[in-house]
Amino acid sequence: MINNIGFPKEFLWGGALAANQCEGAYLEGGKGLTNVDICPSGENRLKVMLGDVKSLTTVDGETYPSHEAIDFYHKFREDIALFAEMGFKCLRVSISWARIFPNGDDKTPNEEGLKFYDEMFDEMLKYNIQPVVTICHFDIPVSLIKNYGGWINRKLIDFYEKYTRTIFERYKNKVRYWMTFNEINMLLHLPFLGAGIRFKEDDDKNLIKYQSAHHQLIASALATKAAHEIIPNVMVGCMLAAGVSYPHTCNPRDVQRAMEVDRENYFFIDVQSKGKYPGYAKRFFRENNIEIKMEPGDEELLKKYTVDYIGFSYYSSRCASADPEVINKLTEGNVFASVKNPYLKASEWGWQIDPLGLRITCNTLFDRYQKPLFIVENGLGAVDKVERDGSIIDDYRIKYLREHIKAMKEAILDGVELIGYTPWGCIDLVSASTGEMKKRYGFIYVDKDNEGNGTLERRKKKSFFWYKNVIKSNGEIL
Ligand code: BG6
Repeated sequence: MINNIGFPKEFLWGGALAANQCEGAYLEGGKGLTNVDICPSGENRLKVMLGDVKSLTTVDGETYPSHEAIDFYHKFREDIALFAEMGFKCLRVSISWARIFPNGDDKTPNEEGLKFYDEMFDEMLKYNIQPVVTICHFDIPVSLIKNYGGWINRKLIDFYEKYTRTIFERYKNKVRYWMTFNEINMLLHLPFLGAGIRFKEDDDKNLIKYQSAHHQLIASALATKAAHEIIPNVMVGCMLAAGVSYPHTCNPRDVQRAMEVDRENYFFIDVQSKGKYPGYAKRFFRENNIEIKMEPGDEELLKKYTVDYIGFSYYSSRCASADPEVINKLTEGNVFASVKNPYLKASEWGWQIDPLGLRITCNTLFDRYQKPLFIVENGLGAVDKVERDGSIIDDYRIKYLREHIKAMKEAILDGVELIGYTPWGCIDLVSASTGEMKKRYGFIYVDKDNEGNGTLERRKKKSFFWYKNVIKSNGEIL
């Protein structure tokens, strides 16, 4: 009997993209420049994303992968038709804030930008593909950084609120699923990317990061409020870069450390989902002289407007240790590196592969929040080879996804309420961390290399046909 529990009939199978990594057309249609548009590819990228930003313009001699990306801006019809062919029930995209408010603080929205997303959503709905929309996936109008200093300035809450009310009014009949900030916890790790923060030498970095986080959390609550006022039946989610931390050994110090590492990330979701600052965060602030400036009414807003579901990305689990010797043995991961787990293999970029970790992460999040979960990113970044006959045999990707979908099934059997799955970069796009094209996640290959050469032609990989069957059988045929 229990074995008959599979994916719910209305399960949202799909794929995920972000405007800054796929659209290109970075100054077309009235769009303004964003922080991501000045993140170069190559060795300077990380420095910039971390907040060491010399100039808020593009610099001669650098290349900027977001400027053309995969030209989804002009090719979205063709691409959505391919997603429809795979049977997508939903597509996660993001709206670029600077297409709607080019400077962020403009009096009126840019009609051309609004129209562009109207057309994109209409194209999805034509095939019964539900849009799942991230309101801010890393891209912040540069003017808001230049003139206000990014999210450290409380004024950004008003600009964001205006932006969200504008898009909710405009798309209220087209979009039901929203997420306020992509991987909100990334702000701690890549402050320029996540919050438009630039540091000066003597800055108290933690204070600046957590004050900016407070502003985003209030903005998220206000967006949730607005969405519920404007859109009937709306579902507003938060979005966490997830992946549970295992203690490196059963030494209680390692267990304590793993809990602390997790709490750094859960902090955001605890506020967005439970509606208040958790005790462990207050202690951390006290002990580190971090005094968050709040305004009257802030706590009530956080309490009243909590999210409806928990969106998260999962690429791998993490591992934590309190032992200084062990801490040196790091492996790469989704931006923040972790202690190497000797039981796991890794991708070509060093991200450790752990499908069981997805089941554990789902259970942990569901136990903690008791709200529906939506896996809005997961996948394997890998180098693909185009064979002589033009085919791309990406069995490694199929294997990765198959094992993770099996883990999702187990989580559902465990009692987790899971509403959807949108593997990352369902069509190849620019890598957020490295700016590369050769780190590919897609079911659809895009002819473009790291240097920007290529025809941008689209090509179905083996995984395209495999995923089509997965969706058709509602996860039964893997
Ligand atoms: C997440 C982001 O961090 O991981 C995406 O939300 C990103 O924007 C994805 O692309 C995969 O990371 P990367 O660095 O391989 O592109």
